[in-house]
Amino acid sequence: MDKFIIKGGVKLSGELNASGSKNSVLPIMVATLLTTGRSVIKNVPDVDDVKHMIKVLEYLGAKVTFKRNTLLIDVPSKVGYVAPYDFVRKMRASYYVMGSLIGRKGKVDASLPGGCAIGERPIDLHLKGFKELGCDIKLEKGYVKARCKKLKGKEMFLEGSKGTSVGATINVMMAAVKAEGKTIIKGAAVEPEVSDVARFLNSMGAKITGIDSPVLTIDGVEKLFPAEYSVIPDRIEAGTLLVSAAITGGELLLKKCNPGHMDAVLNKLKEIGFKLSIGENEIYIKSSRILKPVNIDVLPYPFFPTDMQAQFVSLLSLVDGISIVSENIFEKRFMHVPELLRMGANITIDSNKAIIKGVKKLLGAPVMASDLRASAALVLAALAAEGESEIKRIYHIDRGYESIEKKLRKLGAKIKRVEE
Ligand code: EPZ
Repeated sequence: MDKFIIKGGVKLSGELNASGSKNSVLPIMVATLLTTGRSVIKNVPDVDDVKHMIKVLEYLGAKVTFKRNTLLIDVPSKVGYVAPYDFVRKMRASYYVMGSLIGRKGKVDASLPGGCAIGERPIDLHLKGFKELGCDIKLEKGYVKARCKKLKGKEMFLEGSKGTSVGATINVMMAAVKAEGKTIIKGAAVEPEVSDVARFLNSMGAKITGIDSPVLTIDGVEKLFPAEYSVIPDRIEAGTLLVSAAITGGELLLKKCNPGHMDAVLNKLKEIGFKLSIGENEIYIKSSRILKPVNIDVLPYPFFPTDMQAQFVSLLSLVDGISIVSENIFEKRFMHVPELLRMGANITIDSNKAIIKGVKKLLGAPVMASDLRASAALVLAALAAEGESEIKRIYHIDRGYESIEKKLRKLGAKIKRVEE
């Protein structure tokens, strides 16, 4: 298992490119199973979750090559229909095979994902959507077994008690593109990753309208075709890199990003006091001496994303005054907080709120990463901290950030990867 050793206190500065979106490409990879032949996916981040999804596709019969951020996925005329526990246990997003295999074969056996470090994460909305399309769903020995003779388009409302669901919207949309007739998904998630998958499906011949809105209309088609597509930039990686410059008092010109997907995060950075200049595909951030605390309400897109919450908790722990961050999507997603406390942060958790009292400095310490974004938050805190930090279990960060230490080193960070 690798760990990072970070010597903090260097003001990061320089220029970087954002990578492609992990949360877009994972379902896009799976969507290729809806057809036979070779699809080409570009701007793919070289991260462990993509490598894992390649294994899932290969297990189901596809041939995949991955070079220089481009995936070639050859799907044969016969594909499997089982997603075993080991795949889904290692990466929840493996459950996207449910939507595409229901669409392709009307049949799937997929292991239930179970809980994870950021909370319970049920999949009731996914199953509700599949049932609406005419699937018979059974839960047996930890597996979802879905069977459907003929998928039929339907109007449905997919929002749950926690709001819209990215995963359920994508999964149900992937099945519905092959249903007979019209499906209308009301209460659809509007995250850019959902729209990216919808656009990829349309490039395969699907007929989805209402993209970017909470009402998706899908006119089912009989056949889809392989496609060539370029994935959108990763707005969460982009936000994390901006915070790396912000938290160390430095500056960064981030290129190949999509600022249009990052309004809530960019607004918060401005509100705190950072200077931003925003172009069509690039963002420049510069620190400022006067920073002020802010309150953040984490909510579905277009509001502040849960995947940037941990990184902002690190940032705000160094901003004088009291900031309150309310996590409304994954209410227990605060595993980074006890580790930040060990570095000298002053944060109290009150149910779904982190109450952060800014401290003058953080001190390097040995800490443990618990999930992808929590790991990013610890790296950011360590970059700003006085002295040396050791971050263990960084396999979490490798799941979703391409060459993170190389990118940070390019900005001057003193970060090295060490095998334990
Ligand atoms: C996606 O997870 C992302 N994962 C998450 O990113 C992200 O945090 C999340 O969306 C929210 O933006 C991928 O794209 C692979 P949801 P997902 O369904 O689809 C509840 C990262 O770090 N819910 O939108 O699982 C759920 O419990 C990861 O990159 C139900 O109640 O999230 C949550 O409270 C972590 N029933 C809320 O909805 C359901 O059937 C939103 O979850 C489904 C979800």
